[in-house]
Amino acid sequence: MAPKAVKVGLIGSGAISYTYLDNMTKRFDILDVVGCSDIIPERSEKRSKQFNIRQMTNDEIFADPEIEIVVNTTYPRSHYKVTKAALEAGKHVFSEKMLAVTFEEAKELYDLAKSKGLRLGCAPDTFLGAGYQTCRKLIDDGFVGIPLTVHAVIVRGYHDNGKVVHDIKPFVLDDGGTIPFDMGGYYIHAMVNLFGPVKRVAGFGRTHENKIYHNPFHPNYKQPLPLSSPTIIQVSLEFECGVYGTLTCCDEGFFGPDIQGITVYGTNGILVCPDPNTFGGPVKLLANGGNEYVTMPLTHGYSGEERSFMRPGAQQQDFESMMWAASRRGIGVADMAWAIRNGRAQRCSAELALHAIEIVHAAVECDRTGKVYEMTSRPARPEALPSGFIGCPEAVFDTN
Ligand SMILES: NC(=O)c1ccc[n+]([C@@H]2O[C@H](COP(=O)([O-])OP(=O)(O)OC[C@H]3O[C@@H](n4cnc5c(N)ncnc54)[C@H](O)[C@@H]3O)[C@@H](O)[C@H]2O)c1
Repeated sequence: MAPKAVKVGLIGSGAISYTYLDNMTKRFDILDVVGCSDIIPERSEKRSKQFNIRQMTNDEIFADPEIEIVVNTTYPRSHYKVTKAALEAGKHVFSEKMLAVTFEEAKELYDLAKSKGLRLGCAPDTFLGAGYQTCRKLIDDGFVGIPLTVHAVIVRGYHDNGKVVHDIKPFVLDDGGTIPFDMGGYYIHAMVNLFGPVKRVAGFGRTHENKIYHNPFHPNYKQPLPLSSPTIIQVSLEFECGVYGTLTCCDEGFFGPDIQGITVYGTNGILVCPDPNTFGGPVKLLANGGNEYVTMPLTHGYSGEERSFMRPGAQQQDFESMMWAASRRGIGVADMAWAIRNGRAQRCSAELALHAIEIVHAAVECDRTGKVYEMTSRPARPEALPSGFIGCPEAVFDTN
């Protein structure tokens, strides 16, 4: 018999809430979205009408005895406050990344959830998509031989060259919104999915000094740009399994299309993994004996390209919805709901999220002390999804 659906309340009805609500209301029978809220009521009103759910206040969500999971899609500055209030109200929480603005606050939330026996999950969940599940299978099945090193690079120009991202997403200038926070988690979660936890970190991390707007087309050209969160981290990672890695996150660069990704070097091959901010491919392999990269077939589903996962009767509403729905965020919430019902660990765990923010914290600590940083968080490598997962995602979360 199908388990009882888990009722969900979403807080923070901004841009990405569309994707979450679209996926949570249409693709996962284990989730039953009751309502949404926002400090700007027009936003929650719009989403409630779009998805036929209740417009609520935060307090109504906290007080609703039926709601088990609060999905926190507020901007980073509000993550800590909203997650803490939800946990104190006895709710499980799935938060957008990162858990909080500082490692200390994230640890406090982690401890609070533990002490209350509640689940705390956190984005990104992109590593559950077809692209990174395929990469993982290829590595686990020995296609690169013994993996030796992994290299992750994300360089964007959040305040510069061409795309001035903070005009679109103002929180990227805010504490907890700069690129190590906004994008670092995708790369860290993807690498921990491939290789398990990091043991030690060495490197650098800081906020660039003398910041000004460099873009001559921006109205604030040459004006000061006040920032206090780290804008660049450059770290070496020693994974517990013996693999070495590097991670570069920089929001001072030119915003080009092909300067982000993860590459794995092994004794017998090189694997070029897809952008970890997506659910699909391409996955490219240069294997033993070959002299050119081969685009590998995806061994798993949930690439973001299929339309077949929609519930019967569910329809895309308009062009905007199609754009946002191409992203499949929300699978992590569904996995957490199944984990709650079946009493198992969820894949987007609090430990993994704490690990991600600790790596950003470690970069700054290494910079400050000049020493190697020993990680204190040790998440389990998330369970792989079964291969051949090309149908309904619900079928694969729990194989027992
Ligand atoms: N926009 C994207 O492409 C994208 C993609 C993936 C993940 N994310 C992540 O999702 C989160 C939200 O991003 P977004 O782009 O949707 O931001 P947004 O600013 O569009 O939306 C955030 C919403 O949260 C609301 N809010 C803030 N504090 C609140 C509080 N205390 N109570 C209730 N509502 C509150 C704001 O009013 C706003 O409507 C961020 O952590 C971001 O990193 C965004």
